[in-house]
Amino acid sequence: MSQNKAAAGKSFYLSTPIYYVNDAPHIGHAYTTVAGDVLTRWHRQRGESVWFLTGTDEHGQKVMRTAEANNVSPQAWVDNLVETAWKPNWRALNIANDDFIRTTEPRHMERVQRFLQSLKDAGHIYAGKYEGPYCVGCEEFKLPGDLIDKDGEKLCPIHSKPIELVNENNWFFRLSAFVEPLLQHYRDNPEACQPESARNEVVSFLESGVNDLSISRSTFDWGIPVPWDKDQVVYVWFDALLNYATAVGLGDDPESAGGKKFAQTWPCDVHLVGKDILRFHAVIWPAMLMAAGLPVPGKIFAHGWLLVGGEKMSKSKLTGIAPSDITDHFGVDAFRYYFLRAIPFGTDGSFSWEDMHARYTSELANDFGNLASRLAAMVQKYCCGVLPAVSHDAGLEATLAATVEKADAAMCALDFQGGINAIMDFCKRVNGYVTEQEPWVLAKDPANQATLEGVLYNTAESLRALAVLLHPVMPATCEILWESLGANKTIGAIGDEQIGNVATWGQLPPGSLVEKSAVLFPRLETAE
Ligand code: MSP
Repeated sequence: MSQNKAAAGKSFYLSTPIYYVNDAPHIGHAYTTVAGDVLTRWHRQRGESVWFLTGTDEHGQKVMRTAEANNVSPQAWVDNLVETAWKPNWRALNIANDDFIRTTEPRHMERVQRFLQSLKDAGHIYAGKYEGPYCVGCEEFKLPGDLIDKDGEKLCPIHSKPIELVNENNWFFRLSAFVEPLLQHYRDNPEACQPESARNEVVSFLESGVNDLSISRSTFDWGIPVPWDKDQVVYVWFDALLNYATAVGLGDDPESAGGKKFAQTWPCDVHLVGKDILRFHAVIWPAMLMAAGLPVPGKIFAHGWLLVGGEKMSKSKLTGIAPSDITDHFGVDAFRYYFLRAIPFGTDGSFSWEDMHARYTSELANDFGNLASRLAAMVQKYCCGVLPAVSHDAGLEATLAATVEKADAAMCALDFQGGINAIMDFCKRVNGYVTEQEPWVLAKDPANQATLEGVLYNTAESLRALAVLLHPVMPATCEILWESLGANKTIGAIGDEQIGNVATWGQLPPGSLVEKSAVLFPRLETAE
């Protein structure tokens, strides 16, 4: 489907949630963003035009109170944290986002105001009174049934913190009017909310009846002013959800740059979200778009949580682990690989140093890294560093073709684990081939030189394919491997290599210089 869209000029558009800047990022946030980066890199390598958006959610009480507690203005707080923590974190993790939206930017605030006014003009917004529980951690109006009771106190089940009671005159969005259209949408388009368990949750939530939504707040001012009522600011989720559309020119003149960008990107193909923010994305957001007469997103995919001690890892519970705690030890690419490889996307998973250490050693250092260094060493030793003539191993070729097909289907279905497993199975198969062929034994008899050279060529070709297939997951490592195969000089930049072309055998030109590279996955000091 995406390829047809590419042909029609529509970009494959993927977003991450925009993150609250009440604190620095932890590995739960990095999990979503790395997944988005891997998927968009994969689609780019399918030859598609891609747009990848991430950003920060800067309004609301949660951020405002953190700034107050630190004796700075909310604006100074968010400016500092975005520049010193969030943006550098994504650069360090090699995230190739095309845009970074901040909800305090004028481009966002102006478009939100225009959108709100158009909904009001169309009769979807009315004045009302909200009375009920609110969790500042979730920035969510809660239903009594959502809460847990602890020693007579009502707590938010996600933050385990007391909720607050809100009693305000606010502006309301007629969300209830969209229950039937939303149910119809999910009946007609089951792929629009994934995995299936998430869709079932959304459908039963909708079937249980949904109230209209308060979309403004009047007791604080850290937010976007409601255009027709300057005593109120827009509810932070209504503001935040719109980022996906404001960042690509929502409501701009079709002839302007923003209008053209919107036509090229909208609707968003995939919104990646954690399961805790599924309802906002699968209920409120498409209802807002329906009210505005705009197409709804192609897919909302809710992934699971990284757990610590059986609970969602979070800064507020002091269980947050900074990405650098892991990358300092294992490196950035192992970090990018590990979580997508170890945890089925859509399922909760626990992080363990032991498991990461074990996979690093067996899958990355032994299976992948050693294969690359053995090949380079053998080409040096037996062929003076020069790649021999093209050779064809029918078994490897067929396995590679099946691998590419399987990996592509899995990745496009956001089954990262399935995709990476398929690729790493091929890597194991190539290791098996080298072990069976025993080039070091062949090398003892000059009569075997042609056979030996064939084995080395087949291994090098397999590594070429592995470098391209793993490039979206581990870009820096695969670039080193690509260079050691001489492919940057003979074929071109690895990022230009297309998934659909990987299985074409014999691409490395004979005569290329193969060089030893730095060790791809160095031995770890100690298990922690
Ligand atoms: N600001 C809102 C999102 C607005 S999108 C229009 C928000 N921000 S958040 O910073 O609290 O969370 C952002 C994302 O990080 C969510 O998808 C959330 O699920 C994810 N994660 C936060 N902690 C997580 C784990 N421990 N594990 C996996 N993902 C988790 O919600």
